[in-house]
Amino acid sequence: MATLVTGAAGFIGSSTAHALLERGDDVVGLDNINDYYDPKLKQARLERLQRRFGNRFRFIKVDFADAAAITAALDGSAFDSIVHLGAQAGVRYSIENPAAYVQSNLVGHCNMLEIARARGARHFVYASSSSVYGGNKSVPFRVEDRVDHPLSLYAATKKSDELISESYAHLYRMPMTGLRFFTVYGPWGRPDMAMWIFTKALYEGAPLPLYNGGQMRRDFTYIDDIVAGVLATLDSPPTNDGETKAGGSNAPHALYNIGNNRSEDLMRVVQLLEEATGKKALLDPMPMQPGDVMETCADISAIERDHDFRPVTTIDEGVPRFVDWYRSYHNK
Ligand SMILES: NC(=O)c1ccc[n+]([C@@H]2O[C@H](COP(=O)([O-])OP(=O)(O)OC[C@H]3O[C@@H](n4cnc5c(N)ncnc54)[C@H](O)[C@@H]3O)[C@@H](O)[C@H]2O)c1
Repeated sequence: MATLVTGAAGFIGSSTAHALLERGDDVVGLDNINDYYDPKLKQARLERLQRRFGNRFRFIKVDFADAAAITAALDGSAFDSIVHLGAQAGVRYSIENPAAYVQSNLVGHCNMLEIARARGARHFVYASSSSVYGGNKSVPFRVEDRVDHPLSLYAATKKSDELISESYAHLYRMPMTGLRFFTVYGPWGRPDMAMWIFTKALYEGAPLPLYNGGQMRRDFTYIDDIVAGVLATLDSPPTNDGETKAGGSNAPHALYNIGNNRSEDLMRVVQLLEEATGKKALLDPMPMQPGDVMETCADISAIERDHDFRPVTTIDEGVPRFVDWYRSYHNK
């Protein structure tokens, strides 16, 4: 039976689809290929899957915020689990275009839950975000911490998705796992994220925009580690036994952080990018951006305990791998 992956043309979705196909699972992929960033990159990710896996990867272009369209598009497709990674991502853009987040992350999330309910999905795994921790001072962030003070609409939609999912897990006993991803980077990454923006600026000889003057710390997590965590959780749905799950639910709904459990200084990443590109960075210190947070760091003990998850890629290994990919993608 196949797995349905939403956001299959996106960074994490295409990488997850790749890993599922590689281990022998069939995949039905959904995406609307919107132009939040260059759709050519999304097409290239899809072509890579189609070239390598042929008709074991079936792609459907559809907007999951449109309930009628998604129901019709999936008519006749068989799948037993859903990995819902499609969303409007990005903290900064949520200040400019809140409606995109309401549509994709709230309406779209509810539509995907309804699909899961109608199909009796074995497991619904969905993306949340480290941004739900807002300006929490206690690091590392734990899934048991209160997360009631989002600093952006993006974070508020992700926290809402967790709450809405909890109601479905409680009412319909649908097994669900929410994954709070921490700053994911690596090959086939996103052009709106710092790692890509800095690499591009280095190759162009342009200044690197350093928010908060570069005084930021992030728990950078390599894509392969993220994907390993998605597959490990997908394979072990939370049980419907009334026991308390990670994150506090008594329904079959677990919440996990997936991070590297190392908070890295942004300037250390700049240094690694300089080494990998062989270029010297010009720095453009800027003020802190509204909605942004100074530091993220994941406590990953819950996913370690329940799924034996262990991130293995340090930024010293991951940053050069990203730069190698960036160079080959741009024929540099
Ligand atoms: N990359 C990170 O560092 C990170 C961190 C925390 C959380 N997340 C979450 O992980 C998930 C995947 O993120 P990503 O980095 O791969 O982002 P991405 O933007 O590369 O992928 C998301 C995909 O969803 C698609 N999409 C958006 N709205 C849609 C709609 N209404 N209908 C159909 N498709 C739609 C987009 O076209 C895109 O291809 C998202 O939920 C994101 O919020 C990512």
